[in-house]
Amino acid sequence: MIDKIEEIRKKIDALQPKNAEEVEEFRLKYLTKKGLIPSLFKDFKDVPPEQKKEIGQALNQLKTYAQMKYNQWKEELGKDRESKAADIDFSLPANFVELGARHPISIVLNDMVDIFNRLGFTVAEGPEIEDDFHNFTALNFPEEHPARDMQDTFFFEKNPDILLRTHTSSVQIRAMQKLKPPIRQIYPGRVYRNEAISARSHCIFHQVEGLYVDKDVSFADLKQTLYYFAKEFIGPDVKVRFRPSYFPFTEPSAEMDISCFLCGGKGCKICKKTGWVEILGCGMVDPNVLKFCNIDPEEYSGFAFGMGIERPTLVKYRIEDIRLFFENDIRFLKQFRSVI
Ligand code: PHE
Repeated sequence: MIDKIEEIRKKIDALQPKNAEEVEEFRLKYLTKKGLIPSLFKDFKDVPPEQKKEIGQALNQLKTYAQMKYNQWKEELGKDRESKAADIDFSLPANFVELGARHPISIVLNDMVDIFNRLGFTVAEGPEIEDDFHNFTALNFPEEHPARDMQDTFFFEKNPDILLRTHTSSVQIRAMQKLKPPIRQIYPGRVYRNEAISARSHCIFHQVEGLYVDKDVSFADLKQTLYYFAKEFIGPDVKVRFRPSYFPFTEPSAEMDISCFLCGGKGCKICKKTGWVEILGCGMVDPNVLKFCNIDPEEYSGFAFGMGIERPTLVKYRIEDIRLFFENDIRFLKQFRSVI
């Protein structure tokens, strides 16, 4: 036993671990429960009583020695690492991480959403690939009605019942089918129309739809809500006007104009010298639409409105070409408000 202890001690003396792995190897081989030294302690019980004192001392010394060596190597490794860290020049500039910017459509959309949030409207979304029922039929577009053609719809060749939604009004229907009044929501999203692409129009664009259904909702509520929106969106001096219009799903229907936010009403290129800019369509939800969604028009009434996002964004940022929104040219995108 004494020889064994001596042999192990010599071996430890000869060791000179070069890195953390070798130090760890040492710990596993000598110090852990199943390692060489603890296994000697196990054999200790078989040592004859008269040798117990001498061997016990030698064993304890070996254990302390091995532990000390191990600690010493670990410490040296740590110092090594510190001196390497000291070689790093912390005054050098860090790698430059470029900040992203929000898409201008997202900026304006978020502004719109914030304003309606303050009036208690919550946001919901619906699918861009729709069926005829939600995009047209339930919105009171009768079969063969010319208004269907007005919307230049992209139909799926294999199944003309499926289409790319032409407006976010389809989400109104989904909401009214699912929820019980009161409903106070806005539906932002992307819509598609088969239109020639030019600087002023595109086959893809975005809309925000609003819907409010409850007992005793009136046209006065609609006007006041949209007037609040205009003041928050443009500024306190904005004027609004409503012109009668037609949509199959609202009755009465109107279009809302705001005083031109570029010339303040004097007349310019944007308002085509009229002093007014059209920004949205709106009206009282047609009783037929409520019936399609199993809401009793005798008990409930509602208003709806829908507006495009591209046009106000073009004007706000003086952008001349709508196609820039969809090309994702980094030189264009990085000019807008950054993400944080
Ligand atoms: N969906 C109409 C459009 O795309 C806008 C609208 C929405 C009109 C809701 C009235 C009510 O032009």
